[in-house]
Amino acid sequence: MSKDKPVGIFDSGVGGTSIWKEIHHLLPLEHTIYLADSFNAPYGEKSSEEIVRLSIKNTEKLLEMGAKIIVVACNTATTNAITHLRTSYNIPFIGIEPAIKPAALQTRAKCIGILATKGTLSSNLFARASDLYSKDNKIVEVVGKGLVEKIEQGQKDARVVHDMLTELLEPMIQAGIDYLVLGCSHYPYLIPTLKKILPPHVQIIDSGMAVAKQTRVVLQSLDLLTSEQQQIPEFFTNGDPEILAEIIPAPLNSFKVNYLDF
Ligand code: DGL
Repeated sequence: MSKDKPVGIFDSGVGGTSIWKEIHHLLPLEHTIYLADSFNAPYGEKSSEEIVRLSIKNTEKLLEMGAKIIVVACNTATTNAITHLRTSYNIPFIGIEPAIKPAALQTRAKCIGILATKGTLSSNLFARASDLYSKDNKIVEVVGKGLVEKIEQGQKDARVVHDMLTELLEPMIQAGIDYLVLGCSHYPYLIPTLKKILPPHVQIIDSGMAVAKQTRVVLQSLDLLTSEQQQIPEFFTNGDPEILAEIIPAPLNSFKVNYLDF
C-alpha cells in the first residue's frame, strides 16, 4: 500500500466533518476524502442490518477512490458495523465511540450524561462500554431524537433545536450530571447551544481529537504516514453540497464540495 494514498472518511452525513477537521489539523499532509451519505441520513433510526449494508456501500466507494485507511466518522456505523467491516476488508478501520471512559474517570458527581442516536445506544458495543462504567457511576442515556435531521437540514443554530435540546437535557440536568458525552459526530456542532442550556460546570466531551490521534497511531504503526504534502481535501455528498460546504468550519471551508451519486 502506498503512503500517498488518501485517508477515507465516511459518515451518515455532514456531522463527521467534526472528525475530519481534527484529522486534517493533526495530519495536514495527508490527502483526505470525505464521504457524506446524507441521502440515507439519519442512520440512527435504522436497523443494525441496514446500517451494516450502508457502511459496506460507503467502504466500497472509498476503496474505489484508493483509500489506504478508513475512518468511520459515525458512532452509529461504528457501533453497529465496524466488527463486520474489519473482518470483511483487508484495510485498517478507525471507529468512533462515545467517550464514556474519560467522562467516567473524571466525574466528581459520579453522574454522566450520554447523548447519542438510538442505533448507538442500543448497540452491543455501546452496552459493553456502558456496563463497564455504570457500576461506579450513574449514566443517563438520552436519544437525541430529531437532532441529526435538523443538522442535515442546515438548521443547527435554529431556535427549534434549542428547544429540542432543552427538553432532551432536562433528565440529565435533573440527575446532576457534571459531564456530557456527545455520542454522535453531528453533535459537536451543537456545542454553542448546549453551553447555553447546561449549567456552567458541566463539561462537554466529544471523541474527535481521540479519533484523529488514533488514526495517526495506526498509520504510523503500519508505516503509512505520508511525508509529503498530498492533494487538497476532497468532499463528496449524495445530498445537498451547499449544506455540507456550509458546515465545514472556517478557515477550512474553501475546499470544493462535490455531488456524487453513491
Ligand atoms: N454522525 C452519526 C453518528 O455519529 C449520526 C447518525 C445518524 O445518521 O443518525 O452517530
